[in-house]
Amino acid sequence: MSTHKQLVLSGMQPTNTLHLGNYLGALKNWVRMQNEMPCFFCVVDMHALTQDSGYALPKDVTRATREVAAAYIASGVDPKHTPIFAQSMVKEHAELAWIFNCVARLGWLDRMTQFKEKSGKHKERSSVGLYTYPVLMAADILVYKATHVPVGEDQKQHLELARDIAQKFNNDYAVPDYFPLPEPVITGPGTRVMSLRDGAKKMSKTDESDNSRINLTDDADTIANKIRRAKTDPNPLPENEKGLAGRPEAENLLNIYAGLADKPMKDVIAQFAGQQFSGFKNELAELAVTKLKPIADEMRRLMADSAEIDRILRSGAEKARTVAEPIMLDIKKTVGFVV
Ligand code: TRP
Repeated sequence: MSTHKQLVLSGMQPTNTLHLGNYLGALKNWVRMQNEMPCFFCVVDMHALTQDSGYALPKDVTRATREVAAAYIASGVDPKHTPIFAQSMVKEHAELAWIFNCVARLGWLDRMTQFKEKSGKHKERSSVGLYTYPVLMAADILVYKATHVPVGEDQKQHLELARDIAQKFNNDYAVPDYFPLPEPVITGPGTRVMSLRDGAKKMSKTDESDNSRINLTDDADTIANKIRRAKTDPNPLPENEKGLAGRPEAENLLNIYAGLADKPMKDVIAQFAGQQFSGFKNELAELAVTKLKPIADEMRRLMADSAEIDRILRSGAEKARTVAEPIMLDIKKTVGFVV
């Protein structure tokens, strides 16, 4: 039986465009979870240096780190209650990542599909950091002995690697149950938000078409326009869940409505059964603006005072370090370092 205290840890990379997928797929759940279990949420700025497009510009990393922190807060994560910090502010992440680099096997990392996708045909030109990205992610989690990790489907394999690393460390150093085996909290298919231009593709910050996504910083008119222009099919909305088969765009828009309204998909389908897309889109646009405008406004307000965001990050890092520091000390002793 595991004796570990429950702790949630998650993080997002600082990128310039957080979108509706990040909100419905992650942030909204984080906000709920913070009332159920202790949570730590970090902005993984060290991971941002692994970006395949080469180095991000330093000023972009800084700005995006603040913007992601602002999005956490604007979405409802309460920094007084839940530490919000940048990964690089807690040096123990990097320290543990090195030790884990020596625990993880090359063969394990060679199986990571995200690395294969991101490095593409030019593996030899990818940074070593991109390759060991999932090892740093394991350190992010285990440096706090976190037990629950809300992530999207695409991060499941990385989390399995974190469990393998935890288990191998526990075995090799004969410290059974030292690290918990962190569990993914997959925020199910219901929260998978797809592109507004193609219901088969995920809504993504890297899609060339800005019309494919709703950014958290979009103003009301932009949101409404993007929804009105969203791809649909010629049929009226389906009568039931079965009627969604082969209609990814209808499914995506109804799913977005359900997420924003906090209603089960079944109820939303019943609400709009047999209606035309045009009327539904008007209602969806109205709902999206009602829900997202306060977030965008709050993000803008916070971004105008970067000193305040930095204070919040530093204070979150201080709280996070009170947990990470003693764990890291233990680990150093365990592996034989003189402390
Ligand atoms: N790799 C994650 C992603 O791209 C981000 C991440 C880094 C993360 N460290 C983490 C998520 C630790 C959860 C826990 O989504």
